Amino acid sequence: MTTETNKWHISNQRVFEYEIVSCSNLFDPQNETLLSLGKRENTRRFIIVDANVEKYYSTIIRDYFIIHNVDTKIVTFPGGEENKSLNSYISILNELDLFPIIRRDEPIIAIGGGVLTDLVGFVASSYRRGVPHIKIPTTLMGYVDASVGIKTGINFNGNKNRLGSFEPPLKVFLDKTFLKTLPKRHILNGVCEIIKLAVIKDMVLFEMLETHGLACIESMFQDEISESMLARSIEGMIEELEPNLFEDDLERKVDFGHTFSYGLETYPNSNLLHGEAVVIDIVISAILAKERNLLSEFELNRILNLIPNLGIIINCDFISSDLLWDSMKERVFHRNGHQRIPLPNGIGKCIFVNDVQRTELQYACNKLENWMEIHDPIREY
Ligand SMILES: NC(=O)c1ccc[n+]([C@@H]2O[C@H](COP(=O)([O-])OP(=O)(O)OC[C@H]3O[C@@H](n4cnc5c(N)ncnc54)[C@H](O)[C@@H]3O)[C@@H](O)[C@H]2O)c1
Repeated sequence: MTTETNKWHISNQRVFEYEIVSCSNLFDPQNETLLSLGKRENTRRFIIVDANVEKYYSTIIRDYFIIHNVDTKIVTFPGGEENKSLNSYISILNELDLFPIIRRDEPIIAIGGGVLTDLVGFVASSYRRGVPHIKIPTTLMGYVDASVGIKTGINFNGNKNRLGSFEPPLKVFLDKTFLKTLPKRHILNGVCEIIKLAVIKDMVLFEMLETHGLACIESMFQDEISESMLARSIEGMIEELEPNLFEDDLERKVDFGHTFSYGLETYPNSNLLHGEAVVIDIVISAILAKERNLLSEFELNRILNLIPNLGIIINCDFISSDLLWDSMKERVFHRNGHQRIPLPNGIGKCIFVNDVQRTELQYACNKLENWMEIHDPIREY
């Protein structure tokens, strides 16, 4: 038995807030919004720009800072999951260290997709034990998902987001004009996360997708109805994330589609994008839900039909129930010892289950394989 001679109790609550602002013409020389954050006179900014964004928007971004007389270091960085690595993290830190910034008043600016904002967020959270950062997402995935919360991360040892932190940004600027240059596959990749939210918590969003989804995709999310679909998705995300930013509660509706997808994304040489893996998981989870009488046949078919109707092609030749099972087992570690799998309980509603069995997963996997065969793009065209 130990004898306590002295005892100190430390308790602290750090309150923070940040805004997510939807705006246009962020880099218009007349628009000072971006520079209104942090020091303005004789100031410096360390900026990391996705290489494809740089290709299309290099001039407007560079001119903006030149016109406003800001001393900048602009580092270009390639997107893509393979670049969300320890090497990338170290290489950005090296660049940052060569360009001293005032610790609190010269925020780092990240302009790019989810890979870049996750990576830069992690850099910002660890450099000098934390410097402020601003996120400017340029992909639909970043716009409706990756930039909304406070999670940062890089992949490590073949595992996704194995290293990371919770780091609130100073501000998030959403300028959807960036989406105009996004390849169609990446537009659809972001749509998969909107589908996730719709199926698990928002019937109205689901109906919007059924009715207007295709038009939104065709307009690259530039038309009017896209604006309300994007706003509804972001509000839904905020509703889920804000009360649980640090994931104290591990039963998260937004983890729908993120149980079996993990193994699909981390499978060696997997060419699936994050959203593509998520949508496969959505199909598996919906089949599991149907078999547990949580979804009717009609509801299951609505979910299954929405996916190809939006032009999303599921094409994966390495799926097996063993892979899905192992993925779930990995998530059990992440979810502190329980499955905590969100399943739709009717479209737009959710329950969490902890007792998924191998046999039912095998059944769902077989069903998925049959379904993929029917929707095989090679057979369809
Ligand atoms: N932090 C979170 O809460 C969270 C949530 C969801 C996803 N994520 C992460 O997001 C990542 C995926 O993000 P992503 O899909 O944006 O991938 P990404 O960042 O790799 O971007 C996808 C591709 O689009 C290109 N690109 C970016 N903007 C462009 C533009 N405006 N025009 C033309 N090309 C452009 C990039 O160069 C890249 O090739 C994953 O690593 C995932 O884990 C994080």
